[in-house]
Amino acid sequence: MAQLAEEGGFWVFGYGSLIWKVDFPYEKRVMCYAKSLHRRFWQGSHDHRGTATAPGRVVTLISHEEYENHWRAKDPTCPQDWDDAGGERCYGVAFKLRDREVESVLEHLDLREVNGYTTATVAVFLGDDELLTHAHVYIGRTDNMAFLGPADTDAVARQMVHARGQSGRDIDYFLTLCGVTRLMRPQTEDVHLSCLEEAILRIAKEDGVAVPAGLDPAISTDIARLVAAGRTGLHEGE
Ligand code: BEZ
Repeated sequence: MAQLAEEGGFWVFGYGSLIWKVDFPYEKRVMCYAKSLHRRFWQGSHDHRGTATAPGRVVTLISHEEYENHWRAKDPTCPQDWDDAGGERCYGVAFKLRDREVESVLEHLDLREVNGYTTATVAVFLGDDELLTHAHVYIGRTDNMAFLGPADTDAVARQMVHARGQSGRDIDYFLTLCGVTRLMRPQTEDVHLSCLEEAILRIAKEDGVAVPAGLDPAISTDIARLVAAGRTGLHEGE
């Protein structure tokens, strides 16, 4: 297939709360995916979704090479029949920033995502492996202080069902991510999310923790519009 030229400008890729909590200005946003990266709830949250004594868990990205070499065998959410976990696609949203706003948006995001995250650049794609651009991304590297790594699925689920931080309950963050990824890509199961979701819903029920009936309608309408916009994306305010 002919490869289109990558789109210029400064882009940020969101694969967690940036997908639905957009509290910064941008020129346009487009649904896209990163490859050879595994989105995992392996980063501890001592601020937004937990506390210092009862941390929550939030997402990070693990490179395919590191996943294969160090983590795959320890990851209970990795299906045994996966021949090529490198085929995992991490769906999210790329935001193109206006040149004059890059500095202030990054200052804002660096503060918002201060708990162990560092920045990197990743390639993001549309459709069938068409490069959209390279984007700035926040990653909790496996050597950062807040990194928790894999653990027994029920233990992770129990931790997340009960964790709460300055931005609210971890379970709400988790279920929102499940809802938006399902809307973005109904035909592809995200196995890590679905394993955790089964355990989280079961344990929430056992422990009497309330679960929202569904995705917040405002988020669901917004993401449905973004998906419908396809490769053109949506400009701010649209
Ligand atoms: C994200 O949405 O991409 C994200 C947000 C916070 C920390 C890491 C990633």
